[in-house]
Amino acid sequence: TWTTDAFVEEAVREIKARVGNKRVLLALSGGVDSSTLAFLLYKAIGEQLTCMFIDQGFMRKLEPERLVKLFKDEFHIPVEYVNARQRFLTALDGITDPEEKRRIIGHEFIRVFEEESRRLGPFDYLAQGTLYPDVIESADTNVDPQTGERVAVKIKSHHNVGGLPKDLRFKLIEPLRKLFKDEVRKVGRSIGLPEEIVQRHPFPGPGLAIRILGEVTAERLNILRDADLIVRQEINQNGLYHDCWQAFAVLLPIKSVGVMGDQRTYAYPIVLRIVTSEDGMTADWARVPYDVLEVISNRIVNEVKGVNRVVYDITSKPPGTIEWE
Ligand code: XMP
Repeated sequence: TWTTDAFVEEAVREIKARVGNKRVLLALSGGVDSSTLAFLLYKAIGEQLTCMFIDQGFMRKLEPERLVKLFKDEFHIPVEYVNARQRFLTALDGITDPEEKRRIIGHEFIRVFEEESRRLGPFDYLAQGTLYPDVIESADTNVDPQTGERVAVKIKSHHNVGGLPKDLRFKLIEPLRKLFKDEVRKVGRSIGLPEEIVQRHPFPGPGLAIRILGEVTAERLNILRDADLIVRQEINQNGLYHDCWQAFAVLLPIKSVGVMGDQRTYAYPIVLRIVTSEDGMTADWARVPYDVLEVISNRIVNEVKGVNRVVYDITSKPPGTIEWE
């Protein structure tokens, strides 16, 4: 029978045998896969591992700081924090088309990844949190026809884009490749990852950039981060986190009229998107109690400057998607 202890022991042994005294690079995202991976690798090879965290500036409020602190202070795993916030904002300047935004973010991610891996390298291996379903999906695209070994032609990195240049086609190390998601969670938990990472809702690679419709600006990011934090706080405090697949805020690039005190306001609306789902392929809007919706709405309008209206998205998937872009 499969046990987490046996898995960890075997994975550590395998990593040691394969890596020897070589160096491994890992791109940390803060999700359960890359975090579990970091743990296993660090346990196996210690400082031969370099964890790189690229901050695009599109994570949720306080998450980058929290991730770095968690790894450094609690897990004692060193992290190379790369602040690329301004760079991504500049790349997105004036861009409004959703596909174009995704393409630019993916492209920029690869460029930062390349530069930083050259700066910190050289590395022999790239660790990826490939899971069993991904292995099946990319059955031969990643296999070197000469050696039969799996190599990185792309980085997974939740962007699903971006070919790597020839000299950066590291050999892949994929200790999670036989696992399904629920098994990764079990392993993560058994090696001491906190529940906040183990149970984390899915979060798209392009992050908040695709939850601001139209142009992404620093001002809009700040507004969305604050509104989104309130959604998360209220969902958590009301014990609804585990009942939903995702719960987040979306900012629309339009303004509507409102009134506050005796002042007319003209500001952005925030959309609440809270859904239930088994696998993200289909979804339904969550029947969140009215009093919770009321608190979320009041808090956002009162606490977040630049927002004067909150609406609830009651579209299922299909025909809607979970994200708005
Ligand atoms: P949609 O919006 O297509 O989303 O209904 C389905 C699920 O996928 C997530 N999602 C992404 N995840 N990179 C990711 O890793 C992405 O670019 C991306 N876009 C959407 C979405 O949050 C939902 O859970």
